[in-house]
Amino acid sequence: MKEATGCIFIIVCILPLLTTAEVDVEKISKKVTDKYVEKQISKSTILPPCQACKALVGSFTKGMDRTARNKFDGGDTAWEEQNMGSYRNSEVRLVEIQEKLCQELEKGEDQCHKLVEEAETYIEEWWFKMQQDTDLHDYLCIESLKSCCPSDHYGPECTPCPGYPDRVCSNNGRCKGNGTRKGNGACACDAGYTGPECGSCANGYYQAYKDEKVVLCSPCHVSCQGSCTQAGSKGCLACKAGYSMDVEQGCVDINECVAEDREPCGTNQFCVNNEGSFSCLDCDRACNGCDGDGPDNCFACAKGYFLNDNMCQDEAQYSRDRHVVVARYAVYAGLTVATCIIFQNNQKVAYGIGLAVALYITASEHFISQSNQNAGPKLPLNDM
Ligand SMILES: *[C@@H]1O[C@H](CO)[C@@H](O)[C@H](O)[C@H]1NC(C)=O
Repeated sequence: MKEATGCIFIIVCILPLLTTAEVDVEKISKKVTDKYVEKQISKSTILPPCQACKALVGSFTKGMDRTARNKFDGGDTAWEEQNMGSYRNSEVRLVEIQEKLCQELEKGEDQCHKLVEEAETYIEEWWFKMQQDTDLHDYLCIESLKSCCPSDHYGPECTPCPGYPDRVCSNNGRCKGNGTRKGNGACACDAGYTGPECGSCANGYYQAYKDEKVVLCSPCHVSCQGSCTQAGSKGCLACKAGYSMDVEQGCVDINECVAEDREPCGTNQFCVNNEGSFSCLDCDRACNGCDGDGPDNCFACAKGYFLNDNMCQDEAQYSRDRHVVVARYAVYAGLTVATCIIFQNNQKVAYGIGLAVALYITASEHFISQSNQNAGPKLPLNDM
């Protein structure tokens, strides 16, 4: 019987633990699988041919950096340098580079390994014969594999980009297919430029500078609608809404708040003008109509408020505050009277209490004046 209870106890207590553990394991293994799948996907990513070749060249260059300070392993290095040629151009170094080639690539590792196989003879040829005076990218990617073009050339035949050599896309854009065997050589212009070779200014921009080599376009002033002829609001050909054309100053902001024909804001609102527009803000709740924010800019006071000290004040709040003040002074008076009464019976005690009362009054008055200073508008105590 005892054993059976023990068994049930174990089952009841351990089983839930087991199930949670299972869930955790599942979660973790899912994470691991996700990571693994992600890695596999980026490994098997297929890059465009030129990019793939560039990745290979990049990885090879890293390998050269890694082995730059190596020597022949063990043995008599000097003897080997003499008899086997220098390590720099040796087969040993090439093998050491190739061992780790492509491995550090974040994307397209599989493709890179395949490309290494295809290009093996080219790589060896470059390594042993051309290392000194030819760039690996130029030899491998442009000349041999024909997957890239020289910079500022595009397409299957490596056609020069428009404006080649020194005004490619007027230096204001990118040539589509630049450096690859793809693309059509069209110019993708930077913001503000347009035209087949990015040689003119786009709508909303004006020509700020031009010589035989460069055209520079700058954005029109904010007040311009569409295009402009020069910098500033004077250059506008037309004005945006909220601006009007002035003969001397160009587009100037319209102050909607002083427009005579109509009231721009609703009742119990006031108008604020800003560049190209205006906004309507609600009056303070103490106001019935106003020309600015706060209870001191009211045309008239709202119901339940009255004008005091050039401000509209809450009547109820005002009388409440008065009552508090009256009550305070009444307490002080009461304390003083009580002290006097005690004084007649026991002078010593009365001195003590009188001192305490004086301290209390001083401290509370000090405290109240401090908190009034912090709390904005002062209560008009003086006119009570
Ligand atoms: C073409 O690519 C090279 C480098 O790959 C870059 O320096 C050049 O600015 C590019 N030119 C254009 C017009 O895109």
